[in-house]
Order: sequence, then C-alpha cells, then structure tokens
Amino acid sequence: MVDESKWFGDMRKSVEGAYLSSSDVRAQSGFSGDEGRWERARRVIAEVVDRDGSFLDVGCANGLLMESIVGWTGARNLTIEPFGIDLSPRLLSVARKRLPQWSERFYSGNILDWRPPRRFDFVRIELEYVPSHRRAELIDRLLRDALTSNGRLIVCRYSGSDEQPPGGLAAGLHELGYEPTGHAHANDLDGSTLTHVAWIDRPVEWSLDHPDELTAGAVTLRRWRPGDAAAIAAACSDKEIQRWLPLPSPYDESHALEYVAMMEEDAATGRGFALAIVDPGSDRPLGSIGCRMARARGVADVGYWIVPIARGQGVATTALRALSDWVFANLHPARIELVTDPDNVASQRVAEKAGFVREGILRGYHEHRGCRVDVVMFSLLPTDRS
Ligand SMILES: CC(C)(COP(=O)(O)OP(=O)(O)OC[C@H]1O[C@@H](n2cnc3c(N)ncnc32)[C@H](O)[C@@H]1OP(=O)(O)O)[C@@H](O)C(=O)NCCC(=O)NCCS
Repeated sequence: MVDESKWFGDMRKSVEGAYLSSSDVRAQSGFSGDEGRWERARRVIAEVVDRDGSFLDVGCANGLLMESIVGWTGARNLTIEPFGIDLSPRLLSVARKRLPQWSERFYSGNILDWRPPRRFDFVRIELEYVPSHRRAELIDRLLRDALTSNGRLIVCRYSGSDEQPPGGLAAGLHELGYEPTGHAHANDLDGSTLTHVAWIDRPVEWSLDHPDELTAGAVTLRRWRPGDAAAIAAACSDKEIQRWLPLPSPYDESHALEYVAMMEEDAATGRGFALAIVDPGSDRPLGSIGCRMARARGVADVGYWIVPIARGQGVATTALRALSDWVFANLHPARIELVTDPDNVASQRVAEKAGFVREGILRGYHEHRGCRVDVVMFSLLPTDRS
C-alpha cells in the first residue's frame, strides 16, 4: 500500500534537491544538456499545440518549458497564454523571480486534487507525477476538470524516466483505458529517443445527462440560476459551510455568479452538475447538491450543503437519496462516492441515513487550505438499494 503523503513528500524533496542545486536554467527544469539538446527534446511538445489558447504545464518547475512553448508556438504565429502548477513552492518562487510577468499564473498544489480556477486549452503532464494506481484517475480528472470542452491533454515521457512501459506511451495509455488521438517522439543527434508524446483530445460530444428538476420528498431540486447569486453568497459565507468546503473567503455575489456559470458549462459539457434544493412553495434555496462523474472508473461522486435555518430537518438526507436514485437510473455508475472530513459528524450522519456505507479513512487524500487532510470514504453501490 502506497503512503501517498510520503510518496509526494519524497518526490518534492528529490525534485527540489536535484533542480535547485544548480543555477543552470535547464537543470532547474530537470534537464541535462545545452540549449540545442533542450530544443531537440522539447520542441515536439510545441508541435502538438495546433491553435491559439491557454497552456498549463503540470510540474512546471522554474517555468522554462512554459517560456519555450510560447517561443516555439510563436514562431508558427500562434499565441499561447502559459500557466504552470508545481508541488514545490521553492521551485515556484524561482519561476516567479525568473518570469515576473507571469507571477499570477503559477499555482502551487498537487495535480491529483487541485481545483483549477479556470479551464485550459492544452494541459501537459507526465504520468510519473502520481503513483501508478492513480494514473487513470489523473487523466480522467484533467479531461473533466482542467480542459476546455475541446481541449487537448498532452502526455509526455522523457528519456531518463524510471518507467519505460513496454509498447510505449500510447500502449500505456490504452492500458489505462484511453485511446490517444495521436503520438510523436523526438530524437537526439545519435538517434536515441529523448521524448515521447501522446495526446488525447477531450471528446466534444461527451455529455452527461442531468435532471432539470427532481422532486425529493418535501423539497424540489432544480438547476441553479443567476438570480440565486445573493442566496448562494449568503449561504457560502456561513461558517460551517466555510469550514468544510474549499470556498473563497470572503465569498460574495461575484463568486456565486461565477459558480452558476461554471455549473451551467459543466452540465453542457458533461462534467457534472449541481442543483439547488428549494422549498417548492417559495422557490427559496435551502441548499445545494452536486454530482460529478469519473467516466474511466465508472464512479460518480456527490457533495452538498444546507443553509443554517434549514438544517436538522432531513433536507440533506432526502436530497441525497433522490439524487442517488436518479444517478443510478440515468448515469449507471458502478458506485457513488461521498467523502467527508472525519470531524464532520453531521455530514457522516447524512451519508449513513441515505444508505451509504462507511469504508474507512483515506489518509492525506485531499488538500484543504494548504494542508493534506484525511477523509472518510463512503460509498453506495446499486446493490445497496435492492
Ligand atoms: C452536513 C449538512 C449538509 C447536513 O444537512 P441537514 O439537512 O441538516 O442534514 P439532515 O437533517 O438530513 O441530517 C443531519 C443529521 O446529522 C445530525 N447532526 C447534526 N449536527 C451534528 C453534530 N454536531 N453531531 C452529531 N450529529 C449531528 C443530526 O442530528 C441529523 O441526524 P439524525 O436525523 O439522526 O438526528 C449541513 O449541516 C451542512 O450544510 N453543513 C455544512 C456543509 C457541509 O458540511 N457539507 C458536507 C461536506 S462533506
């Protein structure tokens, strides 16, 4: 069993040790060789960028690849807006110093649970950034959460990487359940391969059914609307909701409007959906419940909140039961997952009352306000309901 906190901690330390021990700009991006070799190895990535757009480099280190991609695509008259994310705050501070014009575009975090504040047209990753059993999940998450609706995921494997799956990168992706749209490689002067690249285009036609309205006992679930912004902002300023959910703080109506727009886009592009739980008489929002679907794994996950005055009356439980029934009947996942903080007793009670089964603690599973935290995993299988 992999201890993930340790796995990522070790990775961060070893990368920092290797990259920060040199003042050479390429060494600080994990590369050994001169500028010519860098271009022979990495220009192939820029060739996969086929239009103007935003480019997220996962594991961006000192930002050199972002800079190079802008230059190489610029030579083909393309305009690329670069962004980067890295596990190491120390490497990011080198990146921000080197490239102050992009200082707001460097994110610190772990790609496995980072919640992208925007969507990107191109995302570059290496699968080695996460333990092998989480690679399918990584691809699924990036396709779902990080890419624009017709975005392209660019998966790289560099020479010197410890893991060289037989049959190549494309075969490795196939084994994980993904068919690459294309693949390419780049050789050094002696003919040895420096870089393998395979890319997956997010299918435009991906669509996830979502209900416009559901009746759940005494409440109704309906799509969120821009007119709900004031109610969302008031709810998301509540201290219990702020305590357990990763929301901006302070939370105002502009955040609420962004949220409603993002949920509309998610529903339209098949990533998931969120519904307002309302009082059917007054249409007043009492809470929110949402679902996201990880297709490759056949798993849906759900989350919810209820406004303070409506708590303790069974609203969350009723909504969760109705939503789970709808999800099984329409999306056919193998399981629905629900994770809560081990100290969030009310949410665990809701899960149990709605028939979810407590599976155990997943250690260091999420990042919450800058810290890795444990979660309790609950699940519901279709057979739990029969
Ligand atoms: C968790 C939350 C959604 C529950 O909503 P709700 O509509 O009040 O839930 P229900 O009324 O269906 O059930 C709540 C249950 O938790 C119990 N409960 C509430 N607070 C509790 C506490 N501090 N300790 C123990 N049990 C508690 C209630 O007694 C009730 O159980 P019961 O019916 O056996 O008495 C709501 O409290 C909330 O929005 N919290 C903040 C956001 C949040 O935590 N979201 C979930 C993130 S995973």
